[in-house]
Amino acid sequence: MKQDMIVILDLGSEKNTVVARAIRALGVYSEIYPHDVTVRELESLYNLKGIVLNGGPNHIVDGVDIDVDHEIYHIGVPVIAAGFAKAGCTVNLPQFGDDVEAVKKALKSFVFDTCKAEANWNMENFISDQVELIKKQVGNKKVLLALSGGVDSSVVAAMLLKAIGNQLVCVHVNHGLMRKNESEKVVEVFKNQLNANLIYVDAVDRFLNKLSGVSDPEQKRKIIGSEFIRVFEEEARKLDGIEFLGQGTIYPDIVESGTKTAKIVKSHHNVGGLPKDLQFALVEPLKQLFKDEVRACGVALGLPDEMVYRQPFPGPGLGVRCLGAITRDRLEAVRESDAILREEFHNAGLDKKVWQYFTLIPDFKSVGVKNNARCFEWPVIIRAVNTVDAMTATVEPLDWSVLSKVTDRILKEVKNVNRVLYDMSPKPCATIEWE
Ligand code: XMP
Repeated sequence: MKQDMIVILDLGSEKNTVVARAIRALGVYSEIYPHDVTVRELESLYNLKGIVLNGGPNHIVDGVDIDVDHEIYHIGVPVIAAGFAKAGCTVNLPQFGDDVEAVKKALKSFVFDTCKAEANWNMENFISDQVELIKKQVGNKKVLLALSGGVDSSVVAAMLLKAIGNQLVCVHVNHGLMRKNESEKVVEVFKNQLNANLIYVDAVDRFLNKLSGVSDPEQKRKIIGSEFIRVFEEEARKLDGIEFLGQGTIYPDIVESGTKTAKIVKSHHNVGGLPKDLQFALVEPLKQLFKDEVRACGVALGLPDEMVYRQPFPGPGLGVRCLGAITRDRLEAVRESDAILREEFHNAGLDKKVWQYFTLIPDFKSVGVKNNARCFEWPVIIRAVNTVDAMTATVEPLDWSVLSKVTDRILKEVKNVNRVLYDMSPKPCATIEWE
């Protein structure tokens, strides 16, 4: 590893990731470790330049009063106390939350003046480090990757491709619940442009048959999840010599922040549910990155912006936006109306501003009139929300002109639809998705 590193020891603070991000923003790499990390483990970290003890208000983790091993004061790097840490170190950071600028200034002085760290954390170094590590881990073996086309799996694919070329085998399962042209784009970018070894599986009929007549949302989600594992497993069994599974685990998946349980959670949530005889060792080259760093990594690896700056998309895809029992006509109408919404948001510059936006279709019809004749067709509902962490969300106050344009186009271009509605409900009490 080429980068200098500052370690944050979690003594029950809620601000671990805030501190980690503030240090990374200075161009210095930073990782969070649990309070009971061993001195030996810390000593083994290459280029460790300093330690931040980050304490919560009552020094309690999992109900136990905690302290760090006092040996850490003697391992030869500066130690600073932040938050509420009661510590044997001489320097104390001001509280985050009181005066953010003052904390940042103090952190900066600690990192550069006290620890003498170098600002050498950047994507170029990160990528070259990871490429080296992947080569070392994988050797001449093969890595299998489920490539959904989402940000994380796409960036992992690009990284592995750079490291091991055609020792990477990507499997893209088209379950029929992708957005318009999404599967085509995965094939175009990875197979045609980047020459990846990509197996494209058309499982559309298989998924839609399984889902036929199933209206319970949880049941639908379960079927989509387990069928995905089954298809992936079948493909994996056809391949020889695979020893590793690529995985788009990212840093927030690993570090759970929170006063009580801020621990390193081992990354065992692989393409969960694979049978015992199909267990692979994991390759997780993004596991140290925050989401925005994953995107920057994707850009640095040459992926197109539309792949890297995608809005979040649920695993079960359009399946949870075609409410109730999925039918092909409604699924097509969701897909087409969603494509129109995305195009018009792009034209209006809203794609850079709004966090998540999509359409959905409920499973009831209403009476309308088309070409002077009565019709009985589906409504399309538009959802456009802003949020920081998806736990709460507000509704985007869309311009009337955008709503009218989208409505006109959906009513003209999408079959079997005679109404367009805008969902005005914040979360809570609504959720972002309807199912
Ligand atoms: P809700 O509907 O719970 O959604 O307010 C919060 C965020 O999570 C996304 N979402 C999912 N993402 N797999 C995912 O990867 C899923 O099964 C899933 N369900 C919901 C949703 O789109 C929103 O951004």
